[in-house]
Amino acid sequence: MKTFSIDIFRSIKAKYFGHPLLLFVSAMLLFGAGRANGQLSDTSISELIGQMSLAEKVGQMTQLTIQPLSAVKGFPGSPFQVDSKLLREAIVNRHVGSLLNVYDMALTTSEWEKLINEIQDLAVNETRHGIPVIYGIDAVHGNNYHVEATLFPQSIGMAATWNEGLVAEAGRVTAQETRSLGITWNFSPVLDVGRQPLWSRFFETFGEDVYMATVLGSASIEAQQSPNSDGYATVAATGKHFLGYSLPLSGKDRTPAWIPDRMLREYILPPFQKAIDQGVLTMMVNSGEINGEPVHASHRILTELLKEELGFEGIIVTDWEDIAKLYSSHRVADSFKEAVRQVVDAGIDMAMVPYDYTFTDVLIELVEEGVISENRIDESVLRILRVKSKLGLFADSRPRKAANKGASGPSVSLQAAQESITLLKNENGVLPLTGSESILFGGPAADSKTFLHGSWTYTWQGMERETYPESIPTFKQKMEDGFSNVAYMAWDEHLDPDKVRALSNRADVVVLALGEVPSVEKPGDIESLELAADQVELARTVVESGARLVVVLFQNRPRIIRQIEPLAAAIILAYQPGPAGAQAVVDVLNGTVNPSGHLPFTYPRYSGSIVPYDYKWSEQADILFGQDAINPQYPFGWGLSYTRYEYSNLRVNAGAFAKTGKLEVSVDVMNAGDRDGMDVIQLYTRDEYASITPSNRRLRRFRKINLAKGEVSTQIFELTKADLSFIGKANVPVFEEGAFTFIIDEQSITVDL
Ligand code: BGC
Repeated sequence: MKTFSIDIFRSIKAKYFGHPLLLFVSAMLLFGAGRANGQLSDTSISELIGQMSLAEKVGQMTQLTIQPLSAVKGFPGSPFQVDSKLLREAIVNRHVGSLLNVYDMALTTSEWEKLINEIQDLAVNETRHGIPVIYGIDAVHGNNYHVEATLFPQSIGMAATWNEGLVAEAGRVTAQETRSLGITWNFSPVLDVGRQPLWSRFFETFGEDVYMATVLGSASIEAQQSPNSDGYATVAATGKHFLGYSLPLSGKDRTPAWIPDRMLREYILPPFQKAIDQGVLTMMVNSGEINGEPVHASHRILTELLKEELGFEGIIVTDWEDIAKLYSSHRVADSFKEAVRQVVDAGIDMAMVPYDYTFTDVLIELVEEGVISENRIDESVLRILRVKSKLGLFADSRPRKAANKGASGPSVSLQAAQESITLLKNENGVLPLTGSESILFGGPAADSKTFLHGSWTYTWQGMERETYPESIPTFKQKMEDGFSNVAYMAWDEHLDPDKVRALSNRADVVVLALGEVPSVEKPGDIESLELAADQVELARTVVESGARLVVVLFQNRPRIIRQIEPLAAAIILAYQPGPAGAQAVVDVLNGTVNPSGHLPFTYPRYSGSIVPYDYKWSEQADILFGQDAINPQYPFGWGLSYTRYEYSNLRVNAGAFAKTGKLEVSVDVMNAGDRDGMDVIQLYTRDEYASITPSNRRLRRFRKINLAKGEVSTQIFELTKADLSFIGKANVPVFEEGAFTFIIDEQSITVDL
């Protein structure tokens, strides 16, 4: 693992000086009536814009990180302190409309409250128009930059629950906890599909399937933006990163993607389209390029597609420093000024600059020179103020304890962790353990809080152990609490194989907590998906003793386990399950919880064979050459249970399809084992022949249900023509009549439609 300093990656370009402008304090008179209940109509917003100076308007389009405005970094050490003079300069003199992030470290409740109050005091009371600031944060698995927040599994684990309701609950808790601090903008969820497992942000996705990403992304957005008791959206969610960020050809973060239009519309666009249709308030732009065009500079993608075709009416915010990168990295602009011209022309509304006033100054210049029209600025300011209004910021921009109804958070977090845990292998029912075995456990993830949580945890990379609350248990603690006959092998002992052998010889079962040190974005770029060699070696040494090996994986993305898979009697994938993760894994090991997680991605067997579950037929085995190309370690949707589910009686009622465009698929599912459990019913369809090469199968619906032992349940799903359509030759959705196969588990039925 590379070591790095956040300061190097996010270094301040200390340029935030400015010239104090005259302060107008009398603001509030302006739009009393238009501001009834804090909600502004578009007409009153336009009137307000009519009274704003160019500098005030461009200020609204400027988003700065809090770091250059801070005096003391804060926890753990001394409390965080903003630099009041610099903050005043930003808000009062430079009219900055939005702030984001933390100065490297999470803040406590009182630090957040103090900060937000100080910001809004300046914005509301000391600026001419009293426009509150919108503060944004990456609350990606809970409000992870707040020391006391409830944290959840990372999105890939949330997806492994296949439980839309849980994703919504986590979104609701996150939004309420965030809003209670006065933070009203969450840069989440990631709507990018995870089809490139090398990518360092794979764990931030809801997996490889576009339908699943659409359903879960939409559940999160709906919950986060749902109205609080006062009728305003709790927080503004962000669909990110528009568009195609997750598919860098090389797998490295922020490197080129080549995505033909048909693929874009079939696999990438739907989660964003759904988010827009349901009223997502903000979108963040992909830092990378598609087909040679940096998305930040693409009028075609941001204006023609996002604003005009998809009808997005909220704020388009750039990603971190991405305007400067059009010049310094992408080289489509030969100066910073030209880069600003390009992004504004492309359609962005707000710049995550984030360290200085370069964007602000240059944009004012461009308008004064007549290169960019003031009307274009007004359009963006309208969008920004509209979002502030929808959030009720004009009525109440302060921290408010009442908004925090997140008391159920810890139980949602535990349930999510429990439901995410995915049992990949369980030879001869070695799990659950009976408790009478003598257990040895160890591995790099065993005594670690960082492996449990992943990045975006108290700090950006999540690697500073001392920032984690004492109360969060490691896997080691929970193993020692949960089993009486356990011994712990410290991670450095793997360096001495004789010692490992000696310890393993005394054990019936060896549980190894393996995986990957957390990382994200550029610092998370890797060369290969192979699991670290010393971990493979440890597993090999352990089994020499004859002990049964149980592997528990904590990882950012699927790391290749081909070499150790045959050695293990059981394998559990825990993803990055959060603070309740250690408990959840032990619950599965000892059988308190019957596992119900399922893979939201195809687990590859080889680094060089990355084939998603919805592959095309031509990717299959070539019989002549004896190749078996579709040979994942575990398929998409895979996940074992301690009970057995039997499916029967798959029926398709397509009688009225020609008239209504609707059909019904039903199946009976029975819990045929001797334990209660939760099953995930996965409905796939296959278009047998089509004018664009059809996929082997596509996920169309899923549902997680409780099934008591012996219980039988009939599950009915409705599908429409749209579900059976694909992006055709003209790059628009088409439905082609013909044979369709409906698949649930091992049942399938083909009908002519
Ligand atoms: C990431 C975004 C994030 C932003 C603000 C960027 O580096 O790409 O996903 O929201 O930083 O922290």
